[in-house]
Amino acid sequence: MNNRREQKHVIAMVGLPARGKSYTAQKLARYLSWLGYATRVFNLGERRRATLGGSQPAAFFDPANPEGTAARQALADAAVRELTLWMHGGGQVAILDATNSTRERRAWIRRHCDEGGFELHFVELIHDDPAVIEENIRATKLNSPDYLGVDPEEAARDFRARLAYYSGNHETVGDDEGSFVKLIGMGRQVVLNRIDGYVPARIVFFLTNLQISTRPIWLTRHGESLYNLENRIGGNPPLSPRGEEYGARLAAHVRDHFQPGDGLEVWTSTLERSLKTGWFVDPDVQPWRNLDEIDAGVCDGMTYAEIKERMPDEYEARARDKLRYRYPMGESYQDVIQRLDRVIIELERHRNPVLVVGHQAVLRALYAYFADQPPERCPHISIPLHTVIKLTPGAYGCAEERVPLL
Ligand code: SIN
Repeated sequence: MNNRREQKHVIAMVGLPARGKSYTAQKLARYLSWLGYATRVFNLGERRRATLGGSQPAAFFDPANPEGTAARQALADAAVRELTLWMHGGGQVAILDATNSTRERRAWIRRHCDEGGFELHFVELIHDDPAVIEENIRATKLNSPDYLGVDPEEAARDFRARLAYYSGNHETVGDDEGSFVKLIGMGRQVVLNRIDGYVPARIVFFLTNLQISTRPIWLTRHGESLYNLENRIGGNPPLSPRGEEYGARLAAHVRDHFQPGDGLEVWTSTLERSLKTGWFVDPDVQPWRNLDEIDAGVCDGMTYAEIKERMPDEYEARARDKLRYRYPMGESYQDVIQRLDRVIIELERHRNPVLVVGHQAVLRALYAYFADQPPERCPHISIPLHTVIKLTPGAYGCAEERVPLL
């Protein structure tokens, strides 16, 4: 392990209710887990519901209500205790998803982080557009377990009263409070303070590219290649006749679902089987070297049976730990994930639908990100040939449909 991985980080969200903190916290957690950091979200609202039940009225959040204030502090104490235990047990990044809206609360979090030896960074979300806030209230809060079975108008009234209590004593993070990133107006303005080191820099880069978007992302492997027919890995083989047929079917399927004005982009690797499959759909594909298949190093062009026979130690090492195993002079799945980081950031930033025509290992890694699969699962995810995997990201997760075309 290098130092970069040993440093532990606490990300404390800051912001009034209905500013998208939980959405952002979940997305960040998924991204960091995918990059290989043991990451967990500690959500204070969920803890409150689990401990006290879901039906606390707005008055519970009134800072002048001593019982509510004591109960909320007790919940925060328990969350920070649990977070600390988890970090000492191997956690690397903890995200404290709560309003953390006063300087006093944040100073209290800092004291805990200093005691635990954790680096603390605040992520503050600031936006005051009433339409966006109203949309967020309708889309998430009124459906939350806090308002189960409550008339929507009554729920909206109660939530606005809760909001007013929080607004009354909310204090934005000050320059003297250490490391922070502020995303203002849905990320239109970004303010950074004392962001230093690899993980904080990744976090900032991710957050500044993140947007709420539900445009579809389609993943498919290239059509069958001549190497697929012989179970060979790597190389740069051409498509088989069946692979060409898949390309034609894929193009027809795309035409059935996208109009020219929909702005569909086709991303391929730089390898012939991916490019040629993509060209069936659009002669103007965008080739990415980052999307090239895992580099099998000295095993390039071999079958698994040949590797087992000629390099049994390598074969076994790979079977033992497929995620970390690196082909001699080649790559591991972890290496592939690192180089796909750029593709993920671009996909998060993009507003247009994208069709990725990739390869098995690379698509496993991309899919693991969208489906929030733990890194250990990544090398085992099923990505069959001649099947389109349609992903539609939503506020809390990703809808998926698999369509075999051949
Ligand atoms: C909640 O109880 O819903 C959140 C508490 C907080 O973060 O202030």
